[in-house]
Amino acid sequence: MKIILYEHHTEASLWLDDLARALPGADVRLWQPGDTAPADYAVVWRAPPELFANRPDLKAVFNLGAGVDAILEVERKQPGTLPPSALLVRLEDSGMGHQMVEYAAHTVLRYLRRLDEYDALQREHRWQKLPPFALKDFTVGVLGMGVLGARVAQALAAFGMPVRGFSRSKRDVEGVRTFAGDEQFEAFLDGTRVLINLLPHTPDTEGILNRRTFERLAPGAYLVNLARGGHLVDDDLLHAMQTGQIAAATLDVFHTEPLPDNHPFWRTPRLTITPHIAAETLREESIEQIANKIMALARGEPISGIVDVKRGY
Ligand code: NAP
Ligand code: GLV
Repeated sequence: MKIILYEHHTEASLWLDDLARALPGADVRLWQPGDTAPADYAVVWRAPPELFANRPDLKAVFNLGAGVDAILEVERKQPGTLPPSALLVRLEDSGMGHQMVEYAAHTVLRYLRRLDEYDALQREHRWQKLPPFALKDFTVGVLGMGVLGARVAQALAAFGMPVRGFSRSKRDVEGVRTFAGDEQFEAFLDGTRVLINLLPHTPDTEGILNRRTFERLAPGAYLVNLARGGHLVDDDLLHAMQTGQIAAATLDVFHTEPLPDNHPFWRTPRLTITPHIAAETLREESIEQIANKIMALARGEPISGIVDVKRGY
């Protein structure tokens, strides 16, 4: 079995060694430009299109992330980039779930307990109590009830706040009031005080965090974008924060990463920025998951996590 790996971080050799160790007997190599030798599987993150060229035998492409928007964007611009015979497989949790829960819980509790406002008061040496929010009114809405969104929603529900979830098809998630499809989108938004985005970035979800969406939320709502920058209309957020419709926001993802130095977000009060670290791809967990799936495919068994290329996730 031949496997090509494309991992553009400095850790590529560590990924190579660990993948080879997890699949004894497999011939695992780092793909280099010009390498057209046969391969059965590709394990990639943001690979150049040449990697896939003339590979009719490729059985599966393993994406080293949960989101497949980058690889599908290349396929949309240059149809046929991905070999039609190859399955596209995304990471399913693989250690990202608990990271998302930690990040989301920290952010929601920070807003619930007004700790961001107390930070600002402390900087001004002001000893001032703010009226607390009632837990029962602090409704959290999670966009996306997939692997990560459902886990975040359930974890937040355990704190006792009302939690809603939104997906394309109806999902049952214990402790969470679920909404599905475009026709229930407004009902999902009405009265939501914290909106957390964990949708995949597809043509259908592009720009979903926009002025109309913000206007339906409870006044003085909070936005937490943990999915992709392309979900957000930046100017609409800036406007909503100026009017106070959005009181504060936490953004982990941006249209351009790193966020350019001259972007107004850097200068917006009550806007928290992190550099796309909400849930990182963990080497050990990811390699274990991918190696198990490669072995299952080699035995002719089905695997989960196969992307529906037409749907976009
Ligand atoms: P997933 O398991 O594929 O879940 C996607 C969810 O979104 C599903 O519930 C799906 O509905 C719903 N959905 C998709 N299109 C929709 C639409 N048009 N309308 C309504 N709902 C829609 O994905 P995941 O593993 O949870 O990951 C979600 C995203 O998180 C990734 O795509 C990635 O962009 C982002 N992410 C970010 C980081 C970070 O560090 N910031 C790390 C990892 C992932 P159905 O259930 O009906 O299919
Ligand atoms: C990271 O953003 C991922 O999609 O895994």
